[in-house]
Amino acid sequence: MTERHTTWLITGASSGIGRSLALEALNAGFRVIGTTRNVSQAETNCAEFSSRGGTWLELDPAVPDAYHQIAKVAQKENIDVLVNNAGYAFIGSVEVVSEEDVHAQMEVNFYGPLRTVQACLPAMRARGSGQIILISSGAGFIARPARGVYSVSKFAIEAIHESLAQEVRSFEIKVLIVEPGAFRTTFATNSQARTDS
Ligand SMILES: NC(=O)c1ccc[n+]([C@@H]2O[C@H](COP(=O)([O-])OP(=O)(O)OC[C@H]3O[C@@H](n4cnc5c(N)ncnc54)[C@H](OP(=O)(O)O)[C@@H]3O)[C@@H](O)[C@H]2O)c1
Repeated sequence: MTERHTTWLITGASSGIGRSLALEALNAGFRVIGTTRNVSQAETNCAEFSSRGGTWLELDPAVPDAYHQIAKVAQKENIDVLVNNAGYAFIGSVEVVSEEDVHAQMEVNFYGPLRTVQACLPAMRARGSGQIILISSGAGFIARPARGVYSVSKFAIEAIHESLAQEVRSFEIKVLIVEPGAFRTTFATNSQARTDS
């Protein structure tokens, strides 16, 4: 019987924390599927990913179809470790934030991870193993000025993962919430700000 390699699925693997994690996992001998919204751009920005054996999956976690895309992969690939990493920060005071800003933030930082968890869970539960890792933030427990919307998205998705951890414990599925401080990635450049009213 051939040995089955542990397979990781990492969202937003083309840059920053996701990219570093993906390359470390590949170095450690794991199979890695990395999602990105633009594979050709990711190939340019992170050529080592493919050359070290990683597989790109073009996916926007912010669209409802992401659930079906991930579910198809999860049925075929036995995802052992799911890392919900893709995200950005909306920066703007409560007075100026629009409902569209809130919706856009929640689609990426809340519904995106929720979709991927729901798509991967049935196969993990059937196998009786799996790890789900959420890259949250210090903003997942402290809401600073102008970071209210970002914090809402991280508080909310942490709540889902806290609840999930208890729901899946008996199926040997582990849930980990990571709350990093500031890292020098493209995160600050990718933040979306609103200063007008
Ligand atoms: N850097 C920090 O200081 C810091 C601190 C605490 C927590 N975090 C968290 O760490 C995670 C990774 O951030 P990072 O620092 O590595 O930032 P990054 O370098 O900007 O990477 C973020 C990744 O998320 C995806 N992404 C960004 N905006 C998106 C959007 N609008 N729609 C869909 N996908 C989007 C991107 O994927 P593609 O462009 O390839 O699709 C990108 O690869 C985030 O969840 C963030 O909240 C970061």
